[in-house]
Amino acid sequence: MHGKDHSGGIRFHDYHPEPADMRAEVVRGLSEMPKRIPPKFFYDQHGSRLFDAITQLPEYYPTRTEIGILKDHGEEMAERVGRGALLVELGSGSSLKIRLLLEALSPSVYMPVDISKAHLLESAERLARVFPDLEIQAVCADYTSPFELPIDDESLDRTAFFPGSSVGNFQPSEAQEFLRRIGLVIGPGGRLLIGVDLLKDTGTLEAAYNDAQGVTAEFNLNLLRRLNRELDADFDLDAFRHHAFFDRERGRIEMHLISVRDQQVRIADRVFGFDLGESIHTECSYKYGIDEFQSLAAGAGYLAEHVWTDDDGLFSVHCLRNSARPTMTLFQR
Ligand code: TRP
Repeated sequence: MHGKDHSGGIRFHDYHPEPADMRAEVVRGLSEMPKRIPPKFFYDQHGSRLFDAITQLPEYYPTRTEIGILKDHGEEMAERVGRGALLVELGSGSSLKIRLLLEALSPSVYMPVDISKAHLLESAERLARVFPDLEIQAVCADYTSPFELPIDDESLDRTAFFPGSSVGNFQPSEAQEFLRRIGLVIGPGGRLLIGVDLLKDTGTLEAAYNDAQGVTAEFNLNLLRRLNRELDADFDLDAFRHHAFFDRERGRIEMHLISVRDQQVRIADRVFGFDLGESIHTECSYKYGIDEFQSLAAGAGYLAEHVWTDDDGLFSVHCLRNSARPTMTLFQR
């Protein structure tokens, strides 16, 4: 026990995150040049299921590699961040990863933060059954906007966990701003454990986003299916194809949907023209070198305490300590 007499259970805090105005955001994105659609709209029910399937694909190495790192080094992570802390998870995504970390770190309080209320409660309930003594404070909030945590025990050390290389789905300058915001949540001296996919050969990177079974393509195209259903659009799913490639200059995978002919698409009362070969940019996934990521984090006020990688150097999990003194370097790629 860690000096807490709490008997476990779930407390739920609803911060009522603003529902995205999907129609306005999609219309705005498709009016830009080049056209784009924000990646947050991938995750309807079918999209979330397809995403789970992506994480199991033979070509998609990040998930299993990060899980391997958590398995191999969980004990060392616990020695660094301490046991009995408050553990904040941003985006209560993967149940296996958080289980491994809860086992290794034995936190006093586990605080998952997620925008989806249903997903949050479902996974909190599942974890409460596996860890009956754990105090779970589930927070329904949009962690990309500023928010405060309902922390009633100020004496606990705080650790944040942000797995899955989700940090790579931000532009580097936005990623830095986001890390800074996490620093406000964990406070001076708080730790951040963050999974970051590493730069590597183009073949391995591109295969991870172009799997042989076409699940990633299906995931990308599902975005259009969702717009058809929820925004009364008339995208022909056979008239767009998935295209993902690594841009080494920018250090990022780009995902696109490419129009295979000249066509017009209607979304409610609006019409958008597509030329043959014109793309909709749907997502970026930045990859980093270890030093490069550490200097990005330094600019957000963190000291790099440790980094763990797998034997093949595919993926990294960083332990960063929030130093109250941000060094204010602007990260440039
Ligand atoms: N952040 C992870 C990555 O970029 C997971 C992910 C987000 C992803 N969107 C994706 C994976 C789209 C495949 C396709 O890899």
